[in-house]
Amino acid sequence: FYTIVESYQSISSTNDLLKEVASSFPEGTIFLANEQSKGKGRNGRDFLSQADKGLYMSVLLKPQFDIKTSLTITACAAVSVAKAIETLYHKQIQIKWINDITYKQKKLGGILVESGLQANQSQVDYFVVGIGINVYKQDFPEPLNEIASTLEAHIKNVDRFALAVAILNNFATLYASLAQNTWYEPYLRFSSVYHASIKVLANPPYDAYVENIDPYGQLHVIKEDQTREIINSGEISIRLK
Ligand code: BTN
Repeated sequence: FYTIVESYQSISSTNDLLKEVASSFPEGTIFLANEQSKGKGRNGRDFLSQADKGLYMSVLLKPQFDIKTSLTITACAAVSVAKAIETLYHKQIQIKWINDITYKQKKLGGILVESGLQANQSQVDYFVVGIGINVYKQDFPEPLNEIASTLEAHIKNVDRFALAVAILNNFATLYASLAQNTWYEPYLRFSSVYHASIKVLANPPYDAYVENIDPYGQLHVIKEDQTREIINSGEISIRLK
């Protein structure tokens, strides 16, 4: 599945660079960086990407099948990471909807999927799947130190390249299963919000219970007044209660 791997010592953002050149590279192209000066997270946040500390990579997808929402790709990538860490290091990783990879409630990394139109093929969407993991120990600036952690804080002898290979292998399999909508069962197993009480940080925020996560990656919640809501917005954050 993977075609080209380009590895950079230091660049702005693997997602940004891959988006810029998406039309000239095939599906399965991987960009890796040792450091990102403008690592991006979801909702316009920065993703701290210091040299030698993490795994920062992006994969280019040019799906030939209909993908209704990038939520499903995000979820596949999150499951790929959670499974890889579980298999290699036997740790109980969780996914906080939709894209946060957590261990003991602290964030180890996240996924940022971006989509666009290829310059020369106005019909076909491409997706850039950005995966960022805090691998080696680092001092996070406040307030990140309250919410972020690293793999090395819990695991000895972490090897970020072995981790990258495991994640990419898992992702190739899960991506192939996207067309059949079978990806989301493992997602439920790793999800920390499935059948949990959450606070939806919308405007205004509200408390809710997560009844289901559907094959499109959407959250089905029941509010305290017993009304139901389907959440699919990338702009909404949630907090476990
Ligand atoms: C998030 O936690 O909100 C998403 C973080 C995604 C970070 C990765 S690192 C590789 C790729 N390049 C970026 O600029 N961001 C993603």
